[in-house]
Amino acid sequence: MKRTYLAILLLVIVSLLTTTGIALSDDDDGKHSLLAWFERTTPGIDPVETRLYTQECGSCHFPYQPGLLPAGSWETIMDSLDNHFGENAELAETDTNAIRNFLLNNAAGRANYGLPNKIMAAQGDRPLPLRITELRYFVYEHSELDKKMVQDNPQVKSFSHCDRCHQSAKQGLYDEHTVKIPGFGRWDD
Ligand code: HEC
Ligand code: HEC
Repeated sequence: MKRTYLAILLLVIVSLLTTTGIALSDDDDGKHSLLAWFERTTPGIDPVETRLYTQECGSCHFPYQPGLLPAGSWETIMDSLDNHFGENAELAETDTNAIRNFLLNNAAGRANYGLPNKIMAAQGDRPLPLRITELRYFVYEHSELDKKMVQDNPQVKSFSHCDRCHQSAKQGLYDEHTVKIPGFGRWDD
């Protein structure tokens, strides 16, 4: 008798997890995966689930998660898209406004959790850079990497291509165990 209750309870838990998992993990391709939901719960940065953002800000480079930069940096970036690191990345006004809101609402300093908090703490009162790769936290975390693995590595070229090394960057996971540098393999501290 007890076993039957246990079996029913398990069934209920599993089906609850599956349905909430599917509801929460609609990614931008419309794919559903329970795994993505579990990945959300591990420490990292919230993944980007906004189709507009991944389309417009992910066509030239990896769509950086909003929590990787403070609001002030995003504001400057969104106010100067016509001269964006030497490119014109201008958008229709409605799209610019929607993306600006998305970035500001989820920026480091506004999203109160792990990685964004570490980024803010490391930056302290120092001026805010436009680049993630110039944040004090970023520079410190990547200080052990050699030029031959990054700038001189034709498969990486610059630190701006997060996903070339961080295999789970899209899911917002940047821990060192998910790093594989092209041509050099897994990162072993
Ligand atoms: C037309 C191409 C293009 C589009 C579209 C584009 N970018 Fe960029 N972005 C660039 C280039 C080029 C760089 C500099 C990359 C480098 O130095 O390797 C850059 C760099 C960045 C960086 C700094 C990355 C670092 O090095 O830390 C951020 C942040 C950024 N873009 C955000 C955005 C956002 C937000 C959008 C959408 C509104 C966007 N980009 C759309 C071309 C583009
Ligand atoms: C050339 C490969 C490479 C690129 C490109 C790269 N990283 Fe990393 N990153 C690493 C390695 C290797 C480590 C671990 C360093 C260590 O442990 O000393 C790391 C560490 C980190 C950490 C700290 C993780 C932790 O758990 O402590 C974060 C956060 C991070 N990277 C974010 C980024 C972001 C965001 C980008 C893009 C703007 C990026 N990285 C680009 C290789 C790279």
